[in-house]
Amino acid sequence: MKRIVSTNRYLLMITGMVICIIMVSGLSKIGSTAFQNVDNKIGSTTLPSVDDYLRTKFEKLGLVPVPVENQVSEQKVVLGKMLFFDKRLSGNNEVSCITCHAVDKAFTDGRATAVGVDGREGQRNTPTVLNAAYYEKLFWDGRATSLEEQALGPIINPVEMDQDLDELVKELKDVPEYRRLFANAFQGEITTKHIAEALASYERTLIVNDTPFDHYLQGDNKALTTQEKLGMEIFVGKGSCITCHAGANFSDNDFDNLGINNGDLGRFYVTDQEEDKGAFRSPQLRQLIYTAPYMHDGSMKTLEEVVKHYNEGKHVDQFTSEDFNPLNLSDKEQAALVAFLQSLSGKPIKIEEPKIP
Ligand code: HEC
Ligand code: HEC
Repeated sequence: MKRIVSTNRYLLMITGMVICIIMVSGLSKIGSTAFQNVDNKIGSTTLPSVDDYLRTKFEKLGLVPVPVENQVSEQKVVLGKMLFFDKRLSGNNEVSCITCHAVDKAFTDGRATAVGVDGREGQRNTPTVLNAAYYEKLFWDGRATSLEEQALGPIINPVEMDQDLDELVKELKDVPEYRRLFANAFQGEITTKHIAEALASYERTLIVNDTPFDHYLQGDNKALTTQEKLGMEIFVGKGSCITCHAGANFSDNDFDNLGINNGDLGRFYVTDQEEDKGAFRSPQLRQLIYTAPYMHDGSMKTLEEVVKHYNEGKHVDQFTSEDFNPLNLSDKEQAALVAFLQSLSGKPIKIEEPKIP
């Protein structure tokens, strides 16, 4: 009898120790990294899960900012869409915005650098217009501060649309349907200001907020795979990508030189500041799977190549950003980062072509 009791005690002690060891090892896991997938309920306290933690690092894409001077209306959007597709906007009537910002390439052109009227070659890669409405500064060098200001840029640019603005207004005034549409949208005449405002209003409707990543942010833990989540951890952690690709639109609207040196001085042309040499605005990162090639000069063909560039973090001159450094990521981590970038792309956007009057 005595012996049986002591055996029971002995068993109880061992079981107690085992439980302690399991608990301590569980806790030490939580201490060692915030990302450890441990059971998130210990006793009565609920600890945040890995997913809850990761979500705190991002912001959901909110409503599009709209300037008070140019409130959006359906009439403006319908008109802006026609203008976006209308080749009359170019000097030789052969190039429209859609020529370079093609719908099936998520509003880019698939080229390293853009080609405008008469095959004239530009120096920069065509960025997407999707979610451009969220930027505080437009163009790779940030030289425009609103979509209204931006819109006339390509029209008058000699290597893009090479159009005289007075000539354009005259051409549009010759079309009765345009006269009617402008009168409806602006209670006024056709002017370059109204052309810009209509184009900007249309662009404010070109929004992507429906990617696996966005679903994850909204609370669907299964929207991302384990690999994509590992990539996300690197994006906010070791990779420090979020330093510059910050905020809901993945851009801090700031300028950095990433050691892509091809003679284009980027932001320097706008500010005349030494430190801005070769610096470009951090681009947004949604729909990337459709917008290759990448970077301001289109020099990188794949996302793998982009991630490799970051992993190497080579400084080419004294202007290279101090936030751009070698990352020492393993092949597995680089692949995960690519997978995460891909999860920022949703289904292809489909748009019905407007009838040009
Ligand atoms: C010949 C090709 C071409 C045409 C035509 C063209 N674009 Fe672009 N677009 C570009 C390129 C290249 C850039 C980047 C230029 C730069 O950063 O210096 C750009 C930049 C932009 C941006 C800024 C995006 C960002 O990330 O900051 C917007 C918005 C835009 N274009 C809208 C338009 C509109 C509206 C039209 C028609 C009126 C148009 N584009 C016509 C090639 C083109
Ligand atoms: C120091 C700021 C900074 C950091 C850190 C940073 N980026 Fe960037 N990113 C930029 C800038 C600026 C560009 C455009 C550079 C250029 O064209 O010269 C860019 C371009 C890109 C592009 C190309 C997008 C396109 O449309 O062409 C991708 C993809 C990208 N970054 C992903 C990442 C990832 C992944 C990380 C983390 C490993 C990262 N970035 C870290 C600033 C940064």
